[in-house]
Amino acid sequence: MKLYKANIIFTREKDQFEVIPHGYVGVEDGRVVAVANHADAFDKEAEEIIDYGDCLLIPAMNDMHVHASQYRNQGISMDLELLPWLNQYTFPEEARYSDPHYARRMYSRFVRDLWRYGTMRAVAFATTHLESTRVLMELFREAGLGAFVGKVDMDRNAIDALHEPADEAIANNEALINEWNAPDGLVKPIITPRFIPSCSPAMLRACGELARKYHMPVQSHLSENAGEIVWVRELEPQSHNYGDAYDRYGLFGQTPTIMAHCVYTAGDELELMARRGVMVAHCPTSNLNVSSCMAPVRTFLDHGVKVGLGSDISGGHDLSILRMMVYAIQVSKMCYVRDKSKHFLTLSEAFWIATKSAGSFFGRVGSFEPGYEFDALVIDDRALNHDNYSLLQRLERFIYLGDDRHIAVRYCRGREIPEPSVVK
Ligand code: GUN
Ligand code: FE
Repeated sequence: MKLYKANIIFTREKDQFEVIPHGYVGVEDGRVVAVANHADAFDKEAEEIIDYGDCLLIPAMNDMHVHASQYRNQGISMDLELLPWLNQYTFPEEARYSDPHYARRMYSRFVRDLWRYGTMRAVAFATTHLESTRVLMELFREAGLGAFVGKVDMDRNAIDALHEPADEAIANNEALINEWNAPDGLVKPIITPRFIPSCSPAMLRACGELARKYHMPVQSHLSENAGEIVWVRELEPQSHNYGDAYDRYGLFGQTPTIMAHCVYTAGDELELMARRGVMVAHCPTSNLNVSSCMAPVRTFLDHGVKVGLGSDISGGHDLSILRMMVYAIQVSKMCYVRDKSKHFLTLSEAFWIATKSAGSFFGRVGSFEPGYEFDALVIDDRALNHDNYSLLQRLERFIYLGDDRHIAVRYCRGREIPEPSVVK
């Protein structure tokens, strides 16, 4: 067992931080054995004590919704709403991933930058292309980061270069499932019908059947934009709501499911998400940039709906999940101004959402409780520390102001992760 010594901060529950000044985390076989404030509190003797001095030690970040294939478009093309934005900027960029060399160049930068910002696990969209999706999965594996990677399935309403008949899409997904089926693998496929408008009923049905057959997780987009929701109502007139449409195809919690956005989710759709354990990937910057609106995160929490945070590059412009906590808090304050019964998110709630709540999608990830995988960041915030701040104030400043310059060491599943290399 190794002992890591630092100022330890994590959350067990959303309402409260656990703070252990100059404490120890014991780690064996990649998992936390215990946390204590003395080295002699552990049953077993430590083989090694790694002392990080006055640094903070916190659980690593999880990005629950990100389009790796939109990385070139990060920070540009913010002048359209969702549907025209997809047509004008997003689909043409994704079409370039028919070239696996282009994919390797872009994806290697994407993975390196996730690492930079302390994101050790991601739930990512690739593109329709099998070979490029393999490239992204290999890059995650070489980096030592955890990821669910989706080969995107779509057969209508995009551009021909991104369409794929349902039977081909399923065969390609099955190839990935067979190649990446190690039960304890850090990188795994996830079934990814893009959203209802880009998938025919035959495609949606086939995706649902595939997920059930192999017990594969599912990701997609839900109730993001008003125009999108009107379109889905036209496409699926027999469904009670957008979520119900996925449900009818076996894509709404029949296997572990994550839905991005849910800005307009309410009523029966909200109840169904809670009942089925469907997780929301809340993407506040994306919702602001493509004029979607503000997702009701307090309502999700009040109804027991699981929530994580997503950067949603390139609808979102910021890859930092630290900053995503800030945006989530700020957006929740605007919701609060409109309805004072919906209290805005506290710092501990935002932290819990980004770490332990999100991490539950990967297993036991996102906390330092016994049995959790040791995904951790060592924060050297001396450059931010120009007065006597408390440990929680130091964490708050790091979340609001910090970046890769303040992350000294990164761990995923107990392994120290070096900087991934970038392909020229
Ligand atoms: N809905 C369907 N595709 C997308 C996408 O690429 N980005 C966002 N934000 N929403 C989507
Ligand atoms: Fe998205």
